[in-house]
Amino acid sequence: MKIAVFGTGYVGLVTGVCFAEMGNSVTCIDVDANKISDLQKGISPIYEPGLDNLLANNIKAQRLFFTTQPDQSLESADIVFIAVGTPPKADGSADLQYVEKVAQTIGEKINNYKVIVNKSTVPVGTFRKVKTIITNCLQKRNSAVTFDVASNPEFLREGCAIDDCLKPNRVVIGTESQQAQSLLQKLYTPFLENGSQLITMDPASSEMTKYAANAMLAAKISIMNEYSRLCEKLGADIEAIKKGIGSDHRIGPHFINAGVGYGGSCFPKDVSALIQIGKENDEQLEILKAVEAANQVQRERFIKKIATRLSSNLNKTIAVWGVAFKPGTDDIREAPALDIIQHFLDLNYTVQVFDPVASKNAQAHFNNHSRLVFMDDQYKVLNQASALVIPTEWMSFREPDFQLMKKLMQTPLIFDGRNIYNPQHIANDGFEYISIGR
Ligand SMILES: NC(=O)c1ccc[n+]([C@@H]2O[C@H](COP(=O)([O-])OP(=O)(O)OC[C@H]3O[C@@H](n4cnc5c(N)ncnc54)[C@H](O)[C@@H]3O)[C@@H](O)[C@H]2O)c1
Repeated sequence: MKIAVFGTGYVGLVTGVCFAEMGNSVTCIDVDANKISDLQKGISPIYEPGLDNLLANNIKAQRLFFTTQPDQSLESADIVFIAVGTPPKADGSADLQYVEKVAQTIGEKINNYKVIVNKSTVPVGTFRKVKTIITNCLQKRNSAVTFDVASNPEFLREGCAIDDCLKPNRVVIGTESQQAQSLLQKLYTPFLENGSQLITMDPASSEMTKYAANAMLAAKISIMNEYSRLCEKLGADIEAIKKGIGSDHRIGPHFINAGVGYGGSCFPKDVSALIQIGKENDEQLEILKAVEAANQVQRERFIKKIATRLSSNLNKTIAVWGVAFKPGTDDIREAPALDIIQHFLDLNYTVQVFDPVASKNAQAHFNNHSRLVFMDDQYKVLNQASALVIPTEWMSFREPDFQLMKKLMQTPLIFDGRNIYNPQHIANDGFEYISIGR
């Protein structure tokens, strides 16, 4: 099949590459000329395990192309995917300007039947908006070209996006058109070999499914974070409670880790957007407002814990392990580490940071701040540090050389925002250890 994908970010690039890997001919389109120029040379603008190989192989096999000029690919494509950003506006609602711009480009250029599929996370009813924009463009051109619109929300997780995309645990398709459904069913059938389901529904339900999923996962995290705060007051251990409730199949073991709060490019913006959708429809989503507030409190509490413990310290150097919003990605959008680093820069600290892949993005975020030092070795950042803060649980932090760490640090003090160590073991190693809910 011939496919065009608008947007070469974490979603567009990964899905484009995976469609090509299944044998389709895919053209990825982006307005960012630098990204496209790099991608044409096989250089990925993002870090995602396994992506580089698939990118190189499919470019070489001439199944994967990149361009800033949509004309030719739109002419030949059977299916056109929209996978551009939907960032939050100041009031929390989703900014649809990029989706709308793509819809307009499609309306201005298509010359034969297309299925237009929206993969971006969008408010319910956006399928209608996209349809109207394209219809208006076609009318202006006096064109009789027909098209269908479908919603196909994306559930991939950064850090294992390739696997999620090649072997999705479900594919959701929302459309009113039988022709669009058949074409998408054909496209996705090879991805469902592991027995996962293709679930079809109306477009509004499909658009809502994405928000409902993310909000539910964010809610699980926020509830555990609230429990963790209570555990600290009561002398209970949130990790024991996690095991105790995660073994209940009605609750399940996933997304019940207490920590420094959720971040990333999806949960914060999608929870806010859903709250806003509620307001616009005269339904106050009180639980989601509490989920959001609990997440903010969790971040602030962790920072306060660190600041309080360090307040009498004369040494104003701290080390931070991990700046990505989670392991396996270079994405730092809404990462808890950003708030932590900013707080201590504001208090005139020197902050020494190690992250296996996200340092470059963080450096740009902080505009090359003079007291923020990025190093390429997790032990080097500990040199003369009065504390180590861990906001991201990268694998290499789990079993480090504690004796070496103690030698390098000025004070053997660890603030663990992800509960990756056993408190007893780490105390035996001579560290003061402050974690979450224990
Ligand atoms: N990142 C994730 O893990 C994830 C998971 C599921 C769903 N989503 C959703 O998918 C969508 C995309 O997210 P992302 O993280 O890939 O975004 P991103 O910011 O990484 O990438 C968006 C890309 O779209 C490009 N773009 C903007 N306008 C364009 C236009 N007119 N034509 C062509 N390209 C254009 C940008 O240059 C950028 O490269 C969002 O709605 C997001 O909520 C993201």
